[in-house]
Amino acid sequence: MASTGKDFSKYFDFSNAKVLNESDGKTTYRINGRDITINAAPNYKDEKRRGKEEIQVHYESAIPPELMELGKGKTYNITTYGCQMNEHDTEVMKGIFEQMGYLPTDDRNQADVILLNTCAVRENAEDKVFGELGHLKHLKIEKPGLILGVCGCMSQEESVVGRIMQKHGFVDLIFGTHNIHRLPYLLQDALFGKEMVVEVWSKEGDIIENLPKKREGMRGWVNIMYGCDKFCTYCIVPYTRGKERSRRPEDVIAEVRELARQGFKEITLLGQNVNAYGKDFEDRDYRFGDLMADMAKIDLPRIRFTTSHPRDFDDRLIDVLAERGNLVEHIHLPVQSGSTEVLKRMSRKYSRELYLDLVGKIKRAIPDAVLTTDIIVGFPGETEEQFEETLSLMKEVGFASAYTFIYSPRAGTPAADMEDNIPEAVKKARLARLNALVGELSLQSNKLMLGQTFEVLIEGQSKNNPDVLAGRTRTNKLVHMKGPASWIGQFIEARVTDVQTWYVKAEPIIEELKQEAVS
Ligand code: SAH
Ligand code: SF4
Ligand code: F3S
Repeated sequence: MASTGKDFSKYFDFSNAKVLNESDGKTTYRINGRDITINAAPNYKDEKRRGKEEIQVHYESAIPPELMELGKGKTYNITTYGCQMNEHDTEVMKGIFEQMGYLPTDDRNQADVILLNTCAVRENAEDKVFGELGHLKHLKIEKPGLILGVCGCMSQEESVVGRIMQKHGFVDLIFGTHNIHRLPYLLQDALFGKEMVVEVWSKEGDIIENLPKKREGMRGWVNIMYGCDKFCTYCIVPYTRGKERSRRPEDVIAEVRELARQGFKEITLLGQNVNAYGKDFEDRDYRFGDLMADMAKIDLPRIRFTTSHPRDFDDRLIDVLAERGNLVEHIHLPVQSGSTEVLKRMSRKYSRELYLDLVGKIKRAIPDAVLTTDIIVGFPGETEEQFEETLSLMKEVGFASAYTFIYSPRAGTPAADMEDNIPEAVKKARLARLNALVGELSLQSNKLMLGQTFEVLIEGQSKNNPDVLAGRTRTNKLVHMKGPASWIGQFIEARVTDVQTWYVKAEPIIEELKQEAVS
């Protein structure tokens, strides 16, 4: 697990590196005048491995008393890229920082520690981070005491860690997605050791319970599982996040109950593939449908989940969702492509027909369910006809919205070795056609809402106009309505009066609220 150099050398020229010290499984090198201690370096081969390591659930995660004062009088700043999983990891890191006495700051010039919590899913996500490091270099030169760290999914990549060591020697700390609970110790090492510290475990992964979390607002994320075993051929996530492993139901339920007690209005259960929840339990037969049935018993107004893989979406889950209650009628169900051929090359393990069957079943059980999806265009070998199959599937399902991406080759994944034979201009043109269709479908689905009444959870003021509030329906539709700031965090019954492509306008239906809205 703890590679400290050897396997990693493909991406890093160790011939210029002088070994200064080797002890306790750590190696300190001098590289381009910078001392770097590698506790563990990422290793693609180990990240790909499945089934060899036993998953352990650790409940002891308290920060040792001697580190509780480390951040007294100091501030931290975290920038988060990528998916909700990363957003939630940032909440955990914020929790750890604050237990160590650090205070948050939005002003990077003031911060004593700056972390970039990175995403590796597409190349442009990575480019952004390297651009940001360029800016931060100046800050670091002005303020040598600043601790600058890189964490998240990019840290799990050999190529990225090699590049940072070689070209961005001003970075103080690199740690991986499996090392978040080690943050207090790593900060201590970076503060007192003066050398760059690299600690990226390439393990299949454990589950660490009881870590502090700093949540804000009325909506909370709760991890139900970690990792991914699907290995879609284009995707880096199974390498950066380890194997599929489910939190024990009693731990998830206890966390959601506690959030209900604290007054949270909406919870989103998180996993790369929530439908695989429980498949790894050896001591019980308890799956995602069972967990959702237990969630429905908790007194918390809205429970969402993301992301669903079509393959493990079973009938039991559909039955439970059809009971509604606090389980909302929105399902994000990434399809990626409408062509069975392309799906095969992506190794998605379902066909166009199977996907459509599943959608049919969901719609029969929950006729007003709103479906959204993810699409990749320009996957290696995607023909014009295959792309058009994606467009026709989009129409057939009638998705309310979609996240759309141009395929981006990721080093270490099988698709990166396929011939990327579609010209950039064609990829861009396909994306534009797809996005135009997504806009049309979104408007169509919004039009169905016209004149109807919905329960809207008011989330805040609209970005462009503080007199307008923005909220969401159970189906995750964005709603704008006039009203006072005091409504933020409340549920307001409202009738849709006008529709746009990406949002609807509404007015509260209760007379006295209407008065409040205009006064
Ligand atoms: N676990 C989720 C997806 C996580 S990544 C799922 O399976 O649905 C989010 C989205 O990024 C994916 O659904 C996919 O559409 C897109 N994506 C992943 N790898 C990509 C790549 N190499 N190039 C372009 N888009 C990619
Ligand atoms: Fe990536 Fe596929 Fe896993 Fe989603 S299911 S995280 S797309 S490998
Ligand atoms: Fe990105 Fe990692 Fe999420 S690669 S999409 S931050 S799991």
